[in-house]
Amino acid sequence: MTGDQEADCTCMVVIQLSPSSAPMRGSRILEDGNKKAIQCARKKELLPEVTIKQENQFYFCVITDLYIYIYYFSQGHDTTAVGISWAIYALGLYPDIQVKVQEEVDSIFGDDHDRPITADDLKQMKYMELVLKETQRLFPSAPFIARDLVENLNVNGYVLPKGTTCIILTYMLHRNEEVFANPEKFDPERFLPENCVGRHPYAYTPFSAGPRNCIGQKFAFIEEKVMLATIVRHFNITSLDQRDKLEIKMEMVLRSKNGLRIRMEERRKK
Ligand code: HEM
Repeated sequence: MTGDQEADCTCMVVIQLSPSSAPMRGSRILEDGNKKAIQCARKKELLPEVTIKQENQFYFCVITDLYIYIYYFSQGHDTTAVGISWAIYALGLYPDIQVKVQEEVDSIFGDDHDRPITADDLKQMKYMELVLKETQRLFPSAPFIARDLVENLNVNGYVLPKGTTCIILTYMLHRNEEVFANPEKFDPERFLPENCVGRHPYAYTPFSAGPRNCIGQKFAFIEEKVMLATIVRHFNITSLDQRDKLEIKMEMVLRSKNGLRIRMEERRKK
């Protein structure tokens, strides 16, 4: 991006990048002489060249509204897509829970099966939200997060030296039986407000935590609710494989090696 183009931008923001972990997970800063650009890991596309300055161990860059758009949405596609897939799978596996979700959705839409979903409808989908949270506990879209230590860190008397890459396995964290009794049980009611009292805020972190947590989490649940409500309004779901038959893969997002096989049947035959 040239200086002229920068001047044309309607919105300019300065973001902070750490040298080894660029702003998007898996993306990196490419250096070619004095030129630097940001490369996304997944599609290897090169974002427009940005002006990157270095200060101490951090890079700063001026970015545009276009870049924010790409950055914001590129973070949210896979995570939300697999979040929806796992939620469909969970509903298909636990018919009692699916019936409760359908009852809630039916109570909102009544006999109108085609009315578009409104923001008010989404607010009423309270049980659905518990299901989505429990889905993210057992099947976190982002199964781990990583950080480079920029200074020594003392963890329970063990010093992790500066420069270490630390990986937090969200997938395992969410299975801590001291926090989540009977952790493998899919139980959305764990997330009823009264059942969350006293739970450590970092015991459940599907959207990470701290200053670099997910800025799209509310939007993600909106997308998920719209998709799921649309599906359960029209279909009954059955999952064809039990959990012990799945081969879980921890890539950038959590996947099942052979996919998630489901059967869908129309609720009201025409
Ligand atoms: C179920 C869906 C989603 C999950 C589970 C999820 C999870 C996460 C996690 C764990 C991080 C932190 C990564 C890290 O610390 O290394 C993150 C960051 C981020 N997410 Fe999401 N995300 C979801 C959906 C979305 C959506 C829909 C958007 C935008 C439309 C979005 C935008 C972002 C952005 C921009 C960041 C980086 C924030 C920063 O670095 O300061 N995410 N997400």
